[in-house]
Amino acid sequence: MDSTVKAIELKELWRRYKSADDERARERLVVAYAPLVKYVVGRMRSNLPGHIDEAELTSYGLGGLVGAISRFDPDREIKFETYAITRIRGAIVDELRTMDWVPRSVRARAREIERANRKLEAQLQRVPTDEEMAGELQLSVEEFQDRLLRIYNSNLVALDEMWYAGDGNGDQASLLETLPDSRAADPETGRGLSEEDVRANIVTFIGAGHETTANALTWTLYLLSQSPEWRARVEAEIDVHFDPDDETDPTERLPVTKAVFEEAMRLFPPAANLVREAISEDWIAGFRIPAGTIVSVSPYVLHRHKTLWRNPEDFDPSRFLPGEREKIDRYAYIPFGAGPRVCIGQAFAMQEGVIVLAHFLKRIRLDLFPGHPVALQQRITLRPRHGMRMIVRRR
Ligand code: HEM
Repeated sequence: MDSTVKAIELKELWRRYKSADDERARERLVVAYAPLVKYVVGRMRSNLPGHIDEAELTSYGLGGLVGAISRFDPDREIKFETYAITRIRGAIVDELRTMDWVPRSVRARAREIERANRKLEAQLQRVPTDEEMAGELQLSVEEFQDRLLRIYNSNLVALDEMWYAGDGNGDQASLLETLPDSRAADPETGRGLSEEDVRANIVTFIGAGHETTANALTWTLYLLSQSPEWRARVEAEIDVHFDPDDETDPTERLPVTKAVFEEAMRLFPPAANLVREAISEDWIAGFRIPAGTIVSVSPYVLHRHKTLWRNPEDFDPSRFLPGEREKIDRYAYIPFGAGPRVCIGQAFAMQEGVIVLAHFLKRIRLDLFPGHPVALQQRITLRPRHGMRMIVRRR
């Protein structure tokens, strides 16, 4: 159909539906705009785990489209397509949030691994090795590690998609739009989110997400100001591979920038000390841990341990370049923690850190203000005690 004719016909359908409440006109509007659902599903589909069915997503999306048609006011200055895409995406994300994202088979395997782990820990009085775990589960070590990876990835994808389902083109449902939804029950308690829960979540996100990333970026900029070699390498990479107007994720195109950010978090982990309280008696590496003991794991110490790192005090981002990064032991580098309470913002923070650095360093160069004292201060995060006074120059 000619697009002008189509526009006139759509206008007429809107008029009949809104002023005369014509049901036929509403149905025809749904059919006319159905391609928007296909478009949104197509874009979300590629980022979601394989077991999520496209037909299911489409039906959630259609619900969003119907809602958008009934709520839309054609007299307002906003394009229906833009409005509808947000609502369609919001409807899909809402439904996904109420689903159990992790396939049942993966959950069952996770429980099996937990049981084996508990049994072996009780027997051995220490953390079992991968070999011992594999033996207990009657798997090869590779099979065991593959299972762990699958469980870890399915959780990671679930969390990432829940919060960051947007595609950077402005047509995603915002966090605020999808959060206060009393229909989205917590799978553990069966309860929806109260307003208080929403507020607490936002406070946690700002507290856990802002201060940490801001410190990581501050330390990165400080370290770069001390290393002309790495600063030149980052600038060269950004000049060639980073376009500030391109909104796609640049992290994989900027391995040097990413490595610098990771190395900065090795030397100055924003969460420098992780603390747990033993809820019952336990044994770690032959030491008895009475119930109630406060146990601290320090990423700061671990990241500078001379048995784990070559020249640990040196700023050397090449440790994190592709080819070297894979050699680092999972538990030697834990800026985002590890285990069940690992940072849920990890993927987001990595992307955010690299993007902010790329935007900054494309345009400006930062040098430490001469004589400014740099010292550490461990509050909840690891901060520069006297702030970080720097001179900003346009590149
Ligand atoms: C460079 C940035 C970040 C660093 C270094 C960092 C580090 C950490 C660490 C080490 C933990 C585990 C704490 C523990 O084991 O006691 C943690 C947990 C957490 N992080 Fe992050 N984080 C960062 C960014 C973010 C962002 C951007 C968000 C959210 C948008 C976030 C949300 C959280 C939450 C909610 C938890 C608690 C998870 C739980 O207990 O289940 N973090 N973070």
